This record gives sequence, structure tokens and C-alpha cells, in this order.
Amino acid sequence: MLKPLTAPDIASRKGGERLAMLTAYDYPTALALDQAGADMLLVGDSLAMVVLGHPDTLSVTLDEMVHHTKAVSRAARRSLVIGDLPFLSYQAGVERAVLAAGRLVQEGGARAVKLEGAGYLREVEAMVRAGVPVMGHVGLTPQLVAGLGGFKVQGKTAETAARLVREAMALEAAGCFSIVLEAVPSVVAREITARVSIPTIGIGAGPHCDGQVLVIHDVLGLFERFTPKFVKRYAELGNLMQEAAGRYMYEVRQGAFPADEHGFGMDPQEAAAFRGLLNDIVAG
Ligand code: KIV
Repeated sequence: MLKPLTAPDIASRKGGERLAMLTAYDYPTALALDQAGADMLLVGDSLAMVVLGHPDTLSVTLDEMVHHTKAVSRAARRSLVIGDLPFLSYQAGVERAVLAAGRLVQEGGARAVKLEGAGYLREVEAMVRAGVPVMGHVGLTPQLVAGLGGFKVQGKTAETAARLVREAMALEAAGCFSIVLEAVPSVVAREITARVSIPTIGIGAGPHCDGQVLVIHDVLGLFERFTPKFVKRYAELGNLMQEAAGRYMYEVRQGAFPADEHGFGMDPQEAAAFRGLLNDIVAG
């Protein structure tokens, strides 16, 4: 029997074996990733782009996030399931934020939540007080994409890099058990990792973080719209899917599928009686 990982287990891995995290949005994918040994499965709001076809992450709703978190939670035996708080679910006051986090836990089955930016420290504190472990997220925070002027690397100047260090430290002080660092220079990620006592999880943040996360559709070659520089593709499942679907269509049109072995037989006596009944139908 596998013991499910908890947020304190993840926090205790600071400086130890690196943490491997992936996004997941559905039951079969979560099952495969859990069995492959993922430490954390993030039901990211990237759902909006890679599964639901939106241009950015702003359109996904809390209801949709709860729905997909449920599917992932049903599959996870060992991985810690983290539900991502979508745009506007935590920006309109502490009470609404706690209730939104509560839905991802109570209905979705998540055992932690994630939110973006360092502007909601009171919300983080209130969630932690309510018993919900919170993962922070600084650097490129896609829910702020309009204000950031696009999906751009953050912390490239001394001043903005120092601000990222202060933000990460503030999130730790507010009670986060871990922090995602997205699209920041490697040197900045290394300094943040050295200055906080909770694990940093990089995505486009270089090799010095305590762990790494990628969007599973990028890893598997299932998202074609764009591929950020920091992505490594480990498979080309999009091509495989097209190839398999193409062969299916060909065989159906040629009459090669289904073959006899894909059908069901009938007891010979019943078949003979059936033919008799057909004769009656015709005669009648
Ligand atoms: O929504 C998401 O997939 C994320 C990861 C990129 C960290 O926030």
C-alpha cells in the first residue's frame, strides 16, 4: 500500500532528492503519472489552454477546475494533488479565496492549492490557517499576462530580480510549503532557492531549483500551438494519435475493420431458430 505524499513530506525534501512534478487534468493521465512516480500532480489552470483550447489561462472557471481536480484525485495513490486557483477565485477578498480553496479540497479532493503572485499574502495566511497547504508561484504568472505584456521572462534587471527574491521570501513567511519559479533567469532562481527554506519548483528557471514542473501536454508532444524554450519533449504523442486515427479511418473505409474476431458469436441452435423466425417474418 503506497503512502500518499503530503505537503509536509514535500517541504521536508528541501535540499534532498529533487522533486518531480507534472500537470495532469484527467483520470487516465493522472493514473499513468502517479504510477510513474510523480511527487506532485498539479491540476494547473493551463487546463484552459492545453485541454479546453482557450488562448490563455484567464477563461477557466473554478467549477471547471473542481471538475478536473476530482478526476485527477480519483487516480492519485501516491502523488500529492495540487489544485490551481483560477483567475478571480482568490483576488476578490480573503473569504472568497478561502472558500475557493476549500472547494478544490472538499469537492475536488486536492490536498493543497496553488495561487499566483505575492500580492495575496493575507489570503495565503487565511488558507493555511484553515488547514489548506498553499504553494506559491512567482516570476511569469500567466494570470497577469495582460499586465506583463505577454509570456515573457521575468526578473531580467537587477531591480526586478531583487523584487522576485523579496516576493518568494514573503510567500514563505505567509506559510507556503513550496514555491513555483516560472521563467526567471537561472541565477535568480539559484539565489531564491538559497534564501528560502521551502522547496522551489522551477519551470524555465534553470537547474538550481529543488524540483521541476512541466505541463504534461508539452512533455508528451500534445500541444502544438507553441513550445517555450524551457520545454523538453519526451514523446510525440500528437503524431502517434494522428497516425493511429488515420489507420482506423482507412481500415473502416476499406472494410478491413471490424473483422470476424471483433464480433460476437451465437449459439448454433439459437442461430438456426432465429433463421426460422426470420422465415416466419418474411412469410407473414
Ligand atoms: O497552470 C500551470 O500549469 C502552472 C504550471 C506551469 C506551474 O501553473
